[in-house]
Amino acid sequence: MSLIQIEEVSKVYGFGDATTVALDEVSLEIEKGEFIAVMGPSGSGKTTLMNILGLLDRPTHGVYKLNGKDVARLAKIKQAKTRRDQVGFIFQSFNLLPRLTVIENVALPLAYKHVSQTRRLKAAAQALEQVGLKDREYYLPTQLSGGQLQRAAIARALVNAPSIIIADEPTGNLDSVSARVVMELLSEIHKMGNTVLMVTHNPSLTRYASRILYMLDGNIVYDEATAIGEMPSRVQKAVNALRKSDDDEKLANVSAMMETMPDPSEPKEKKIEKKKKKPRKTKKTKRGKK
Ligand SMILES: Nc1ncnc2c1ncn2[C@@H]1O[C@H](COP(=O)(O)OP(=O)(O)O)[C@@H](O)[C@H]1O
Ligand SMILES: [Mg+2]
Repeated sequence: MSLIQIEEVSKVYGFGDATTVALDEVSLEIEKGEFIAVMGPSGSGKTTLMNILGLLDRPTHGVYKLNGKDVARLAKIKQAKTRRDQVGFIFQSFNLLPRLTVIENVALPLAYKHVSQTRRLKAAAQALEQVGLKDREYYLPTQLSGGQLQRAAIARALVNAPSIIIADEPTGNLDSVSARVVMELLSEIHKMGNTVLMVTHNPSLTRYASRILYMLDGNIVYDEATAIGEMPSRVQKAVNALRKSDDDEKLANVSAMMETMPDPSEPKEKKIEKKKKKPRKTKKTKRGKK
């Protein structure tokens, strides 16, 4: 049984003429222990997918099974409970509460459980030790650097021993040195057997992943397993292109690179199972929904 299984999941925002199809019948299976890097240009549906997988949001259509259990249409309160028990989130903006100390922030996911305060703080201290912040337990978030804040956020995501850790552009607000520390941590967490889903704009970070997804216009257009520590040649080329281009060109380059999509019949590229062949071009065509 897969840890995560979604089938033809769509997410439509808005009503009438002003609708956006953020996810367009996406199917995906994720096994326990994978480290998935999700790439794709802004607006391609990465955050929407993460929010649905992390039970922060629910699909408009489709099936979502987490640990074999149908969770797509849980009542709000059950959804929140499942999220607290099974998902750890790491955001680009860290999202620590400014008035709580670091250790209180990290203990927060346990506040909803029937766990004594002593045990909560003990678990939080352990998680902080794991991310190398033991000596910052009683600091306030404003007293930490960006890299330290993100490590605290990682400790918070771990404190519950969740089934999935979701990191949406976790290094987006960090300098390259802090980003590296955060990535090494995520990598360690992965090696301990955790399942990590990470959105990133930085192709070189895909080297930490065991599988790379690339999204475009609400679809997964590329899905490839990779050896950890390596980048598929296509991604490597994108990195090289990135080195010699300015920001605006960056994503265009990466997109263009990934759009020279693998032929689905090539044996090495796997797993894009769509019930009907989709046109390769990226422009969305209007499709009637049943
Ligand atoms: N709450 C929302 N309301 C309306 N449209 C949204 C909302 N969230 C996302 N979208 C739209 O859905 C599409 C996918 O967005 P998102 O998942 O945030 O993409 P990404 O994370 O890849 O940048 C975009 O067109 C975005 O404008
Ligand atoms: Mg996003």
